[in-house]
Amino acid sequence: MKLAIGSDHVGFELKPVIIEYLEELGHEVTDFGPYSSERTDYPIYGKKVAEEVAAGNFDCGILICGTGVGISISANKVKSIRAVVCSEPYSARLSKEHNNTNILAFGSRVVGSELAKMIVKEWLDAKFEGGRHSKRIEMLNRI
Ligand code: RB5
Repeated sequence: MKLAIGSDHVGFELKPVIIEYLEELGHEVTDFGPYSSERTDYPIYGKKVAEEVAAGNFDCGILICGTGVGISISANKVKSIRAVVCSEPYSARLSKEHNNTNILAFGSRVVGSELAKMIVKEWLDAKFEGGRHSKRIEMLNRI
């Protein structure tokens, strides 16, 4: 898959670990920044990655900030984006199967690198189930 990734300064150190893991799994990853650990603002990168995914340039996106909260809120402001913030694999899987999430966010202050990888793997392996869930996605699109 083609993935877009972004973070803020707090998620900056975890980001290369996740990029390397995604590449090991055979995915193509584009990093939308930041490119240094200098203090910055999560809405910049949440918006960038979300717009790229919404435009169809990438299959999905991954975002990392301190908690995953601010950056996922930013992404969810972009039309057709369904971003989930997860700190465990169960919600990551269900967020794809039921909610067809197209962006996964997590917090570098919340999860360690191994748990983050597990969350990423679970999310990427899961498939949207459609059926009764499709109607609810349509309802979300109308909000
Ligand atoms: C930055 O201090 C911090 O607020 C940010 O990384 C994130 O946790 C926001 O939700």
